[in-house]
Amino acid sequence: MALKISPARSVPATVDAVVVAVASDKCSDRALKARGLPIAALHTQGFTGAADQTAFVVDARGRSLIVIGVGASKSVDDNRLRRFGAQGVRAGSRSKRIAVDVSDLIDQRAATDRTTALRALAEGLVLGAYRFTEYRSDPKPVALTTVTVAGISGKASTDAFAEGLKIGEAQNFARDLVNRPGGDLTPDALAQEAVKLARRERFTIEVLNLAQIRRQKLGGLLGVNRGSTLEPRFVKITYTPRSPKGTLALVGKGITFDSGGLSIKSGEGMMTMKMDMGGAAAVLGCFAALRAVAPKCKVVGYLPMTDNMSDGDATRPGDVLTIRNGTTVEVLNTDAEGRLVLADALSLATEDAPDAIVDLATLTGAVEIALGGRIAAVMSNSDAWLDDVEAAAESAGERMWPLPLPTDYRAFLDSDVADLRNISRSRGGGTITAGLFLQEFVGDDIPWAHIDIAGTAWSEADDAETTKGGTGYGVRTLLELARTFTPRRR
Ligand code: BES
Ligand code: MN
Ligand code: ZN
Repeated sequence: MALKISPARSVPATVDAVVVAVASDKCSDRALKARGLPIAALHTQGFTGAADQTAFVVDARGRSLIVIGVGASKSVDDNRLRRFGAQGVRAGSRSKRIAVDVSDLIDQRAATDRTTALRALAEGLVLGAYRFTEYRSDPKPVALTTVTVAGISGKASTDAFAEGLKIGEAQNFARDLVNRPGGDLTPDALAQEAVKLARRERFTIEVLNLAQIRRQKLGGLLGVNRGSTLEPRFVKITYTPRSPKGTLALVGKGITFDSGGLSIKSGEGMMTMKMDMGGAAAVLGCFAALRAVAPKCKVVGYLPMTDNMSDGDATRPGDVLTIRNGTTVEVLNTDAEGRLVLADALSLATEDAPDAIVDLATLTGAVEIALGGRIAAVMSNSDAWLDDVEAAAESAGERMWPLPLPTDYRAFLDSDVADLRNISRSRGGGTITAGLFLQEFVGDDIPWAHIDIAGTAWSEADDAETTKGGTGYGVRTLLELARTFTPRRR
């Protein structure tokens, strides 16, 4: 029973509740009265229009209203609209049919402004309605079936709105992948999800099995997979537009469960480790909405998939692996497995000589110590490409912050027996040394950015468009990056 969300010019007569936004500077008795909002009831509930307030009231005509505060009107940006949309569907979830009236919010905006605003609003509606019920024997049915968004007219607006719905759905698809247990979403099952997507959306796809991964000499992926009874997979998925302008490579860490391997995690530490394919999920989520966004560049996804387990012949600390590009790595901690599988993927991406590379990975616990659970870290070998990635993230409403890749820290990865060790000799800066490790596998002349999403791929709480569990972080940034991509030199 999918939720139906559609745009309309005005509020239909037959809805059960209407969601409206009120700004804090437009919350005077006069202003409320002019909009037919019940002044006394709002006062009683202490409603001031402050951001994130919600009040349930009834208007003079007996209609149920859900009034949501959006803060100062000049602060109402796309992010606020995304939040408002999500808060609206959450607050309206116990009604059958709701209308969201955005005429006041959208009217004052310039045309281009309006398209990004409606896109963000639509994303919020879809994201706020997300539930993960696949594993409930008796999922509590959600009352809400229909959302009509009133105040939208004209092709540009309805198109932008429709695109936002697609982007929200793509992010929800990534959430579903992250939320599925590691015992069910095995490497093969994850690869099959990619195949299903590729068939539906007409992408070309290659899926390497164990024998083919051996033949391709993906020594990092094989080393991590050695402790598993499940076969690894390597997925390459490609979107090719008519006369492509450049190629963007997207690499995503696809560890379907991370036990740590022989350097085993604590019980507590592995409770959420089904999320360790959040990078691969973000890339697949991006592909899910790629046709809707229709970038002019070619987009290629590189996704190494395995779990990290500790079967009898698992990779032992001290073992040396040879990565695809010939670099040898001394594995001193089997829990630093993400960089090993990414090393192969970045090597393969580099061989294809794209115009730029982005990788997303739930790579280090340290990133959450540095930036908390709502801000990802981004590192790059190119200031210009870093600017592009940050700008895309900013427009998409996903927060990230740069960390440096200092050349002198590279020595912390010197091994006594191989070209590199997989953990730093030094105690601090774990996110940075992981980034420096990855840089070894990227061509010097290719702009590359690494986004560490270990903190942001998972949320412990619901909050507007963010839902508890897998967040789908990265999908929106990747789509915006593909949309705006212009090849340039490093
Ligand atoms: N998948 C983990 C990182 C992680 C931690 C993701 C917490 C999400 C939440 C990664 O494979 C890992 O175990 N990293 C180690 C690296 C260390 C051994 C150098 C870590 O962060 O402890
Ligand atoms: Mn690990
Ligand atoms: Zn991991």
